[in-house]
Amino acid sequence: MKQVVVVGAGYVGLTTGAVLAYLGHRVKVLDVDPARVEDLKRGKLPFFEPHLQELISLSQARLAFTSQYEEAIPTAEVIFIAVGTPSGPDGAPDLSQARSAALGIGRHLGEGFTVVVNKSTVPVGSGNYVEAMVRRAFWEAHGQEPRAYAVVSNPEFLREGQAVYDSLYPDRIVVGAEDKRALEVMRELYEPILEQSFAPPPFLPRPERMGAVPFITTDLASAELIKYGANAFLAMKISFINELAALAERVGADIREVARGIGLDSRIGPRFLQAGLGWGGSCFPKDTLALVAMGEEYGIPMPLVRAAREVNFLQRQRVVDKLLGELKTLKGRTIALLGLAFKPHTDDLRESPALELAVLLLGRGAFVRAHDPMALTRAQSEVSLPLEYAKTPEDLLRGVDAVVLATDWPEYRTWPWESLRGLMRVPLVMDARNHLDRDRLVAAGYRYLGIGVPSLGVLNKEGIPGSK
Ligand code: UDX
Repeated sequence: MKQVVVVGAGYVGLTTGAVLAYLGHRVKVLDVDPARVEDLKRGKLPFFEPHLQELISLSQARLAFTSQYEEAIPTAEVIFIAVGTPSGPDGAPDLSQARSAALGIGRHLGEGFTVVVNKSTVPVGSGNYVEAMVRRAFWEAHGQEPRAYAVVSNPEFLREGQAVYDSLYPDRIVVGAEDKRALEVMRELYEPILEQSFAPPPFLPRPERMGAVPFITTDLASAELIKYGANAFLAMKISFINELAALAERVGADIREVARGIGLDSRIGPRFLQAGLGWGGSCFPKDTLALVAMGEEYGIPMPLVRAAREVNFLQRQRVVDKLLGELKTLKGRTIALLGLAFKPHTDDLRESPALELAVLLLGRGAFVRAHDPMALTRAQSEVSLPLEYAKTPEDLLRGVDAVVLATDWPEYRTWPWESLRGLMRVPLVMDARNHLDRDRLVAAGYRYLGIGVPSLGVLNKEGIPGSK
């Protein structure tokens, strides 16, 4: 059992803290926002993440929240830095939060051997930067070198919406460190996960065939680059299938079949080959941009990563073009958006493809009315676009000229599409995630468009209102 502090109560920090407490460690989650800490003490989470609330309840006895470095740091054996690293104006991550965390840690570092763990996604070389900041702050506070501490890099690979699952049952754990003792501390900390020796929580059973988890130990720079490499590769994989989807449409192929045929090659793998509106979220856009910026800094142009980004942002435009192909003009039309979150099972709107699409539609003079099963409240307070919001399928679809599915929430498949058709001015469905049951929709009288799949169904013979 270790004394752990996690600095930063965001997705990564809170999940990491809750999971480590669940495994038996004593964890303090530190956030500089006192209001957030007060909420957490009362059991209120700042965002929705499946199973996190339940895990926190199960681990309550070992989990505390604070906004004071001096209270948490001196007795800690392992301190995670899990603060935000948003993109700065030049694309490189803004490290100001990581810097102030390192300074706060340095000022209050205790007597015993302490491992400072960089979990935030930071450019290669940041481990050394954090180490320097901790050392400097300790020196300023105490007038001497800190006795015993080491900085390690331990990138996270959590998907939002599945963060607890991914933490308990990871594909691998990566730790970069120069200090052998620090590696040992990290191995001990993660032992229940590495050995899969913990009792699974009732709501997240251990997957069948889950074996021991590989523990990848490496130098700091490699660990930092593994994180960027993994995210950029996944982003590239999605952009690749989206690029191929455009060609599939032209030649009359079905990208879902193509993806299946490609993905069954074990060298490629079936996941992250879902064509659609492209990727968004808090990681892929920021990390690919950071990788390009890092390449620039070191004179490596990174054309593949740049292209993955271009293809991705073009994908939203392709959806607009497809709507224009059917409706001729978007001026004055009302377009319904199914989904606002950047992916299902989260209310996170950061870099959401749905919102980027909304910007393009509004720019074309359309009205945009949006629905999301979870992100509506958040959108109302965080999004500054002139969107209309609808809470029910009926309110969303009444009088609209098309509906675009932007986020693949499972419940959209089970909407009563047959009875909803009559509400729409034009029964046109643009399924930008290839998620809906197209045969069912066509049978119900819709015109159906997808991404990289044949368009099906016809609109009424008299023509589309407003297209002449
Ligand atoms: C990602 C990484 O998966 C995770 O390992 C990393 O640590 C953080 O970034 P996340 O951003 O939560 O996780 O979401 P993810 O499930 O990876 O999806 C990212 C985006 O790609 C979403 O907008 C999703 O809709 C899109 N996507 C995903 C596709 O368009 N097609 C796919 O096949 C898969």
